[in-house]
Amino acid sequence: MRNLILGAAVALVIPTVSARAQDAAAGEKAFTACKACHAFGKNGVGPNLTGVVGRKAASVEGYNYSTALKESGITWDEANLKEWLTGPAANKVKGTKMVYQGLKDDKKVADVIAYLATMK
Ligand code: HEC
Repeated sequence: MRNLILGAAVALVIPTVSARAQDAAAGEKAFTACKACHAFGKNGVGPNLTGVVGRKAASVEGYNYSTALKESGITWDEANLKEWLTGPAANKVKGTKMVYQGLKDDKKVADVIAYLATMK
């Protein structure tokens, strides 16, 4: 009985993991829309996005953030990133200097977040 339960648990976990890997690969492609301003490991027009998932907003040293983002008190968990990426100024932080209309496709948003989570 115990093995049966374990087996069922493994069967449930494995598809989730591979789905995530696919999402991240798709997210890398969708990230093309961000590359004009963002890189990993260095600041550009926008801040360095290495390790952004789980990080406090506006916390990259040496990057000149807007006051609006500095005062937002946000931590970039999945829910906050979702709102941000669908419309940074419209849905999340009025006054941000991230001038980007936002991703309109929920799948792309989820994929990009999965990709960001791999860039630690
Ligand atoms: C036109 C340039 C531009 C594009 C395109 C852009 N960003 Fe940004 N991004 C910025 C700027 C500028 C900031 C800083 C905002 C501020 O200080 O208010 C920022 C901030 C962020 C932050 C907050 C980082 C932190 O340290 O708090 C995240 C996360 C982010 N961008 C993700 C993305 C993703 C993912 C995409 C693509 C879907 C994207 N951005 C597209 C310019 C851009």
